[in-house]
Amino acid sequence: MRKILVAPSLLSCDLASVATEVASVESGGADLLHFDVMDGVFVPNLTFGPVLCRAVRRITRLPLDVHLMVADPTPLLQPFVTAGADRISVHVEATPHLHRVLDAIRNLGARPGVAINPLTPTVAVEQAWPFVDFILVMTVDPGFGGQRFIPEMLSKLAVLRQTRDGRWPAVELAVDGGVDAEVAPALIDNGADVLIAGTSVFAAADRAAAIRALKGESPR
Ligand code: DX5
Ligand code: ZN
Repeated sequence: MRKILVAPSLLSCDLASVATEVASVESGGADLLHFDVMDGVFVPNLTFGPVLCRAVRRITRLPLDVHLMVADPTPLLQPFVTAGADRISVHVEATPHLHRVLDAIRNLGARPGVAINPLTPTVAVEQAWPFVDFILVMTVDPGFGGQRFIPEMLSKLAVLRQTRDGRWPAVELAVDGGVDAEVAPALIDNGADVLIAGTSVFAAADRAAAIRALKGESPR
């Protein structure tokens, strides 16, 4: 059985109390911390950069999973690795030079991933498998937390899962967008290893219970 990892997304936390928020999910059983970087160009929203990443790095031991929703990821790679990023994903829609970018992330010492938008066909990442540690399957169009999960993404995930199980068993499949305890079992059934969740974790008063619920563990 594959281990299911939960990555709470800081986008949905109370940023005025970021240290408390991070501590609550770290002690609540989170496996990674998801860090959404938006540039106002690739997506219609603007969020955080390496400065906040560095600050968060100092307050947690959790691996930092940086999701670059930016039109030009290249100039941000070194700054984010220096700021403590452990994993960095870039969008297949954003860069025509995906191999170069993934290679740069690995050479900088971080784990590279490719992110794919809901209506981008899986064939777009078909050549990327040998160069990634994970594929981040968007289950909403990126840009905002709190959007509704797109149910058609389950069959897309299943297609990627078949390739993963058959040829690239070490590559993780992450899902991002509208992930809650209701849809988590179907995501896990269809091959998800990493559940990225903003609202369903940070809107819950009991973060440990929310994380357990996502993993399908019984409440304590
Ligand atoms: C969306 C971001 C997600 C977002 C998920 O563009 O990539 O990581 O924070 O938030 P929820 O779980 O609320 O959909
Ligand atoms: Zn994200």
